[in-house]
Amino acid sequence: MAATREVQDHYFREARRLGYVARSAFKLKEILEKKNLIRPGDYVLDLGCAPGAWLQIACQHIGPAAKGGMVLGYDLKSVRRPLKFCDEALITREGDVFKVTSAEILELTNRRHFDLVMSDMMAATTGHHHSDHYQSMHLARRTLELAGDLLRSGGSFVVKVFEGAEYPALLDECKARFDKVKGFKPKASRNESTEMYIIGEGFLPAK
Ligand SMILES: C[S@@+](CC[C@H](N)C(=O)[O-])C[C@H]1O[C@@H](n2cnc3c(N)ncnc32)[C@H](O)[C@@H]1O
Repeated sequence: MAATREVQDHYFREARRLGYVARSAFKLKEILEKKNLIRPGDYVLDLGCAPGAWLQIACQHIGPAAKGGMVLGYDLKSVRRPLKFCDEALITREGDVFKVTSAEILELTNRRHFDLVMSDMMAATTGHHHSDHYQSMHLARRTLELAGDLLRSGGSFVVKVFEGAEYPALLDECKARFDKVKGFKPKASRNESTEMYIIGEGFLPAK
């Protein structure tokens, strides 16, 4: 069951107690408890990463810089550094995902591929279900487009959306690029929200 206000307060307090910058940390934690999408030494791209709770969870999973992995966070807003649990294996950059190119993202890491592309991006919500839904579809499709260029074969994908009329079509678009695709609603997500996370595993590069 998704979270009531009381449960949300619990996540807020837990985030503060544990040193996470936002309670969204628990959503990614739940996703990673369900699916082992980040291993030590992995390369992870986090789109819409500010203030940085998902970055913190990703850093904990890839391990210290000495293990060779990297987390790259990208957002319109800056991320306040240092960020607890993260060392120099974390790179953060400011910018708009609709303006940055895949080549520019790869240049930042000196790698050809990422193991996981994830996005918790959200434009300022309007409170109007349809607008929020279509905004989220636009962001999710951009994430899928970048993932198509940036993921290694077999890599993974997580994207936040607000459910609505276009959701089944987006699921089908994801199914065309990944071996396994599932929608997931974390317990840490608000009860009243239509927020869902699409998880894709086993990226199939275009032939
Ligand atoms: C819900 S917050 C992400 C929270 C983050 N996952 C965390 O755990 O701290 C959504 C973020 O998406 C970012 N965002 C929205 N549109 C964007 C865009 N076009 N390019 C880059 N970032 C964007 C916002 O600036 C905002 O920081």
